[in-house]
Amino acid sequence: MNLPDPDSVPRREFCKAAVALGGTAGLSACLGVGDDRDNPGETAALSGVPAGDPESVPERQHAWNDVLERDESGNVVAPTHHVLRYCSVSDDLAAAIDDGDAGAVDDARERFADALSDIERGFEWSNEGLLFTVGYAPAYFERFDGRSEGPAGVDLPEPTALTSMEDPGFDTADVLVHLASDTPEAVLAAEEALFGGADAANGEPVTDVTDLFDPVDRRTGFLGPGLPREHRDAQGVPDDAPIPEEAPLFMGFKNGFAGSQATEDRVTITDGPFAGGTTEHVSKLQTQLNAWWNQENHHQRVAKLFSPTHAAEERVGEWGEKLGSNPAVADLPEDAIEFAREEGVVGHAQKAARARDEDGTPPLLRRDFPTTDGDHTGLHFLTLQESIADFVRVREAMTGSDLADESGVGSRLNNGILQYVFVRRRGNYLVPPRTHRSLPEPDP
Ligand code: HEM
Repeated sequence: MNLPDPDSVPRREFCKAAVALGGTAGLSACLGVGDDRDNPGETAALSGVPAGDPESVPERQHAWNDVLERDESGNVVAPTHHVLRYCSVSDDLAAAIDDGDAGAVDDARERFADALSDIERGFEWSNEGLLFTVGYAPAYFERFDGRSEGPAGVDLPEPTALTSMEDPGFDTADVLVHLASDTPEAVLAAEEALFGGADAANGEPVTDVTDLFDPVDRRTGFLGPGLPREHRDAQGVPDDAPIPEEAPLFMGFKNGFAGSQATEDRVTITDGPFAGGTTEHVSKLQTQLNAWWNQENHHQRVAKLFSPTHAAEERVGEWGEKLGSNPAVADLPEDAIEFAREEGVVGHAQKAARARDEDGTPPLLRRDFPTTDGDHTGLHFLTLQESIADFVRVREAMTGSDLADESGVGSRLNNGILQYVFVRRRGNYLVPPRTHRSLPEPDP
């Protein structure tokens, strides 16, 4: 991929492209320096990027909300730039695990733990520094002798197709590292130090672990008001789609309202050796939004994404600004089947809210972000939940195949946003507590 001319596009757009490009070239471009230095990657301190202290980082890897900012309504403001790094353990490490070579595995574990602490020393645990999680797929735990049942006390099945409309590929790479920051250089420099051979990040030496992992995939994305509008030239959305300036989603709205999100407590594993961890599901969703923007009007878009009541009562505003911190999709006057029968339309959020806990608590903490990977619009749908079964339950409610049948409307039902969203890949992970985040045993 080519970077745009830095003099002809806004800095934010240029940096978004640099993150998508990645590597030393992406980092150098972001820093505005050449790519021809002796030492690949950036070793010097980055201007204005705060250093951190591993001692002050919380035990829960997913404890991000306390250090993230809030908007004026109290919603958590997610970091802008995101990278998902998928890796397999190297052949040597795989052989050591397979042979039960405890010495070699312990050495690898210690080195990776050191490298992660080095990164925390290099970057403040914040949106200006860096937030990250390290997750492990079921395939990783199966490498350990006799652990086909997965990590102790955790529901971590292999990914499967979850609807009759999809035929996804499955992500089976051992490790998934999610890096997030408002500072694009921070994401890139940390990634280069962990996986690219740079020997330092933000001026802090980083233990070399490049021999432990083989890269499998790299996905990127961004979340911020106006970013989708700036990237209407990607495929999957009309070039002139009237995406509001403030909207962080290609569909033209905002998501992640506090009232529709699980708390970090709700998604935390409470028992067993991995207590303090969480599970993670990542689906790679492609969106095809030409009809969304060319054939639907604002009223229909609100009805399909939120609910027909939201559309009729004009609750949402242009891009979600009227919703405050709570879209109140769970306390609509009638149930979804009634809506389907009477309106012929059921809203996406309205449907998904049917899977809330009995006391009305949302079970998923969604940390999804839009993407133009492959020059196509999409969404990396990353969610945290206590157990993968929680995700499956919510996804079934979101799919809502019961609604068409039970309402009698059948295939004529406008079933949320299903017709615009295509599941390309799925993967499940355990995000262990920090103590066990480095190459954990299945029953540490
Ligand atoms: C392109 C894909 C998607 C878009 C643009 C999208 C957008 C939205 C929006 C705008 C909301 C309303 C408010 C809020 O976020 O707080 C919402 C809610 C929600 N969505 Fe999605 N979503 C997408 C895919 C999914 C998928 C695949 C799931 C699968 C489980 C899902 C689950 C949920 C849940 C659980 C809620 C909150 C329901 C509640 O209030 O309890 N979404 N989504």
